Amino acid sequence: MTQIARITNLVDAMTLAEQVSLLSGADFWSLPAIERLNVPKLRVTDGPNGARGGGSLIGGVKSAAFPVGIALGATWNPDLLREIGGALAEEVKSKGAHVLLAPTVNIQRSQTNGRNFECYSEDPILTAELAISYITGLQAQGVAATIKHFVGNESEIERTSISSEIDERSLREVYLVPFEAAVKRANTWAVMSSYNRLGGIFTSEHAWLLNTVLRGDWGFDGVVMSDWFGSHSTVETVNAGLDLEMPGPTRDRGAKLIAAVEAGEVSAELVRERALNVLRLMARTGALEDHSEWAERADDRPEHRALIRRAGAEAAVLLKNDGVLPLVGGKLAVIGPNAKVAQIMGGGSAQLNAHYRVTPYDGLVAAGVAVEYAYGCDIGKFQPVLPGPLKMEMFFNRELAGQPAAVDELPEATGFWFGPLKGGVDAAHFSARISTRFEATATGVWRLGLRAAGLARVFVDGVDVVEAWQSWSRGTTFFEEGCDEVLADLPMLAGQSYDIVIEFASKASDTLAFSALAVGLGLPSGDAEIAEAVAVAARADVAVLFVGRDASWDTEGADLPGITLPGRQAELIAAVAAVNPNIVVVLQTGGPVEMPWLGEVAAVLQAWYPGQEAGNAIADVLLGTEPGGRLPQTFPARWSDGVTQTQDPEIYPGLDGRVRYEEGVFIGYRHADLIGVPPLFPFGFGLSYTRFELADLTVDGTEVSVTLRNVGDRSGSTVVQLYVTPVASAVARPARELKAFAKVALAAGAERRLVLGLTARDFAWFCVERRAWVVEAGRYGVEVGQSALDLPLKGVVTVAAAVLAV
Ligand code: BGC
Repeated sequence: MTQIARITNLVDAMTLAEQVSLLSGADFWSLPAIERLNVPKLRVTDGPNGARGGGSLIGGVKSAAFPVGIALGATWNPDLLREIGGALAEEVKSKGAHVLLAPTVNIQRSQTNGRNFECYSEDPILTAELAISYITGLQAQGVAATIKHFVGNESEIERTSISSEIDERSLREVYLVPFEAAVKRANTWAVMSSYNRLGGIFTSEHAWLLNTVLRGDWGFDGVVMSDWFGSHSTVETVNAGLDLEMPGPTRDRGAKLIAAVEAGEVSAELVRERALNVLRLMARTGALEDHSEWAERADDRPEHRALIRRAGAEAAVLLKNDGVLPLVGGKLAVIGPNAKVAQIMGGGSAQLNAHYRVTPYDGLVAAGVAVEYAYGCDIGKFQPVLPGPLKMEMFFNRELAGQPAAVDELPEATGFWFGPLKGGVDAAHFSARISTRFEATATGVWRLGLRAAGLARVFVDGVDVVEAWQSWSRGTTFFEEGCDEVLADLPMLAGQSYDIVIEFASKASDTLAFSALAVGLGLPSGDAEIAEAVAVAARADVAVLFVGRDASWDTEGADLPGITLPGRQAELIAAVAAVNPNIVVVLQTGGPVEMPWLGEVAAVLQAWYPGQEAGNAIADVLLGTEPGGRLPQTFPARWSDGVTQTQDPEIYPGLDGRVRYEEGVFIGYRHADLIGVPPLFPFGFGLSYTRFELADLTVDGTEVSVTLRNVGDRSGSTVVQLYVTPVASAVARPARELKAFAKVALAAGAERRLVLGLTARDFAWFCVERRAWVVEAGRYGVEVGQSALDLPLKGVVTVAAAVLAV
């Protein structure tokens, strides 16, 4: 029997209630089984940089942590992404799941999106090519991709309700491009709608988006699922094209959907079609045959380790090098808040419990480099999480009343709770008393910080020192469900122990149904730590500074307040640079930062969040492995040069529930070209340890050929980029747009002839009136080079007029 006959028979054997049951989750990560028909459960897992599995966001079964989206974007290497997709498929299987909730392909519109790190690029073509490969690698192993978030989710501010106001031409030419490519060229099996509204309508119930564009124009035949708690209606979502409401148990379907069918508001035929889509996804992923119990394994594979390490080096972008890199010996100092902490990923639903985390310090030591170390200064947005173990007594009520219903242990003072907890405690309706004894390691004024999605207060030696109970108010922590951090200063004595008791009570949440808590305690660093760093730097031949941000800044749920380095890091860099000319800055951020200190340092390497092998990959590059990355996002000189930094709050961060994409298609390097302000580092930029030259551009029809030569004395790689410049047009068009690229590795002295092909669509703009791609006849410019601002080879392609279907 063919697959389609099989699932058709199956759906037709179902009652309406059974069909409806397939259209909502059973719990957070799975669909219900239909035992009568031998239909097992479909299981899904986050996320883009690894398969977390079915546990909580924190502390689940261990998984391989791959580089984050922007790091993959910086590789410009579709072949590598295909490999990573294949490895992620193995990870998904090790977690007993069938569907990966990835890739994230929203476009880097601002520099401050909390999920900037999760997205590949500001450019739709680069994003699309990488997504195609990632999805192909994943689905070749029978694991479904869920490309997300469809569409217009470019900020985390008022994330579950904001309306993105984007004109159709900009949608078609920029924001929809990766989704369109994933459907048409990679046959993605699933799509996740976004939280936001688009032009006032939630994307999960947007008929034009889901029915007209996705299924109609592009021919999508997979499953559209909602983002978690992002489905808000019964009739509208089903009619508009949303197959699956996630997570479960259902809020708006089940009996409500059956009633809507009976009332004639939703047709039975449409319910059947949605259920058939779910069954097709189950057939494609083998879930229909998978009757196993949900079991999760931690598979720490050597080949994944090697792949992640290689990908980390391929993602690293060398932004400046006065010749100090690669390091050649001498006395090395390692300084900075990120030296002994491995910054491997961002925060939010993309986080997972990594097998291990290699710090840069450990990576260098493992490579045999002797180093002297200094901490420098603090970096985190919040106080460091209080270490455990902590005893957690849980109560069935919200008042800590009576005897505890269950007792659990927390490894550290943070939790993220949903579904049933130990002893059958309901994460949405419980309270807890969490206690430990803390011994201060130094005398000073410590700082205690409390964040909670729920009500909470902290007692130290019986005294209520901070509370977010009476005074709780919504802030931007925990996916915008938690309060902002509440702080208290606590004088403490070295060697003395303090009783710490945290009381917590869940509260009804508005959108996302979970409870969460974090209590931090730290001794803020100060002048002494900076002075020590200066002394250590002064004694060294070369000092490497590990600075940047961490997952408390680069996280789902909150945008960044700006793009300067947090805390006193800029001051730290300037202070060490004043005593040593050989300063190498290793940046780890999920996006651009301002670098007022750039002129004072010898080298800058942007390493992003490269996954569990972070320290090894960074050490490899510092010691001579080719830095393979090129910027997938423009680094403006000043935040104010960015597209969202106008004085109009509706353009960013949004006003009265709306964020208006006023700039249209002019984002990223298109914007930089338009305003004529040179960026700090342009899109596509990155240095090599060797040198490349391009020559001999020829055009044959729509094929552009160039010769690439490695004119340095070592092997290396670069990215050859082709931009098209428009003819005089009926509409305003960007000065240039990336349309093709090739990542090429060459031995010293070697050369290669490259052919970059273009299609008619590469010359088109989207005409809303004609609902078609319009190619105006004429002589288009083609420019080839190694960044959006380094395009030495120019040619002309003569193109005939054409109108291309959507
Ligand atoms: C995120 C999604 C994620 C989902 C499930 C949401 O908060 O926006 O990207 O897949 O949660 O964790």
